Amino acid sequence: MKNRLLFLGPPGAGKGTQAQQLASVRGLLHLSTGDLLRAEVAAGTELGRQAEAVMARGELVSDALVLAIVRDRLEAQAASGGGGWLLDGFPRNLAQAEALGQLLEELEQPIELVVLMELHDAVLIQRLLNRGRTDDNEQVIRHRLDVYRQQTAPLIQYYRERGLLQPVEADGTVEEIAARIGTAIDGTA
Ligand code: AP5
Repeated sequence: MKNRLLFLGPPGAGKGTQAQQLASVRGLLHLSTGDLLRAEVAAGTELGRQAEAVMARGELVSDALVLAIVRDRLEAQAASGGGGWLLDGFPRNLAQAEALGQLLEELEQPIELVVLMELHDAVLIQRLLNRGRTDDNEQVIRHRLDVYRQQTAPLIQYYRERGLLQPVEADGTVEEIAARIGTAIDGTA
């Protein structure tokens, strides 16, 4: 069973919703860089102070900050001999993908599958407006989508070339999408 997974897709595609559920069912570490950064902001740490304004604008927090928090957790998970992990919202650009590749090589834990969740902008925007997180106003959502297209979408080709990409239609109910993701993970060699 594949248990080193990465969820890729635009804001509002449902990565967090599906990742949380799947990680809980399969006993995986759910590593969401967005959640980790929001926790730092809420705790008022130095890292949180550096990240807060950047997140409010819908831009990407510096690679160095994000990589540090991911490295800590993946190293701890590997040291504990623990099971797998599910990365959600990371990597976000090619530099992060390259750094992740190097870290996973060191840990001898390569990615087994990248699930790409895709959805029309109109549905994404409506979902995020309904949620109403502090970075979920229309102007910031549109900027997050631009940032996704410019910086994150190149990872689609990056992981396709490595034979890891599995696209999943992200429209429908949470249960329908969960079933498609389950098939994508278990139905691929
Ligand atoms: P992050 O927290 O990663 O946000 P995001 O990618 O913009 O993703 P979202 O949480 O908005 O969407 P999602 O796809 O997870 O969907 P969700 O399940 O929540 O990043 C936030 C910020 O942090 C970034 O802008 C950046 O500043 C910073 N950051 C994070 N990672 C970084 C990194 N690696 N490098 C640099 N900066 C980084 O669902 C959305 C809504 O839809 C929810 O209300 C949900 O209930 C609802 N929903 C889900 N599924 C369905 C469904 N099937 N039907 C109807 N509603 C649904």
